[in-house]
Amino acid sequence: MNYIIPFLPSTELIRGKFIEPFVGSGAIFFALNPRRALLSDINPELIDLYRGIRRYPLKVWEIYESFPKTKKAYYEIRATRTDGKNLAFRAARTLYLNRTCFKGMWRHNANGEFNVGYGGQDRRWTISKASLKEVSNKLKHTILKCSDFEKVVDESSKGDFIFVDPPYRPGEREMIHDHYICGKFSYSEYQRLAKALERASNRGVRWALTISSHPDILDLFEENHVIPILRGTGRKPGILTNDSGEVIIRNY
Ligand SMILES: C[S@@+](CC[C@H](N)C(=O)[O-])C[C@H]1O[C@@H](n2cnc3c(N)ncnc32)[C@H](O)[C@@H]1O
Repeated sequence: MNYIIPFLPSTELIRGKFIEPFVGSGAIFFALNPRRALLSDINPELIDLYRGIRRYPLKVWEIYESFPKTKKAYYEIRATRTDGKNLAFRAARTLYLNRTCFKGMWRHNANGEFNVGYGGQDRRWTISKASLKEVSNKLKHTILKCSDFEKVVDESSKGDFIFVDPPYRPGEREMIHDHYICGKFSYSEYQRLAKALERASNRGVRWALTISSHPDILDLFEENHVIPILRGTGRKPGILTNDSGEVIIRNY
């Protein structure tokens, strides 16, 4: 965030909404804490997690805390069907799976079932009841949507700012580390994204995109400004390197 935030407008200078169409963990949103925001992702469990924490932070915490800490329990909770379960339970289950699965990965099998193996309890208690209350407060004035990015980008209007962090180009970081795979994001998706962002530029919307510095990707954004990210985690999540292989592309 320290290498990206200096290239983004400060929240006081965003006259409209702050929009994240690929919100994931919302690292930039939570760091900037903008007045008005629209957060969206194609992953329904992720958006339900945010909706659940926003509405019932204490209830979600109670259920989360009550889940046992054994490997056996992890596989039982993973296998629990969520249809018919209430929002607080679904949010607590997603949080539990995310905090106790292998490296916080998110991956589904062909039947749409979460299939990441057990990773232990080390990351489970680095969050607290207070964290959930804080997240709930930060989400209070936020619109949450579960949607494909194109619809969200197309809804933006003059004065809005969009922070765009799509999945990495297949074949690079995403495939190597299997870190967050929710559907496939192929080259044609980047073409679709580039067109949607061009339409947004024509409406007076400002945007910034973080992406791997691949020639095919850079070609799609040749009308825009490309800034190398000097340090970052590059191909090794969690380890800072001087060659992040990533860029920020902006239309301002
Ligand atoms: C690189 S991650 C975003 C990380 C985020 N910036 C953060 O702070 O954690 C990409 C996100 O895009 C989502 N995604 C994948 N395909 C999408 C699509 N077609 N439309 C919207 N979101 C999509 C994934 O579910 C994932 O959460």
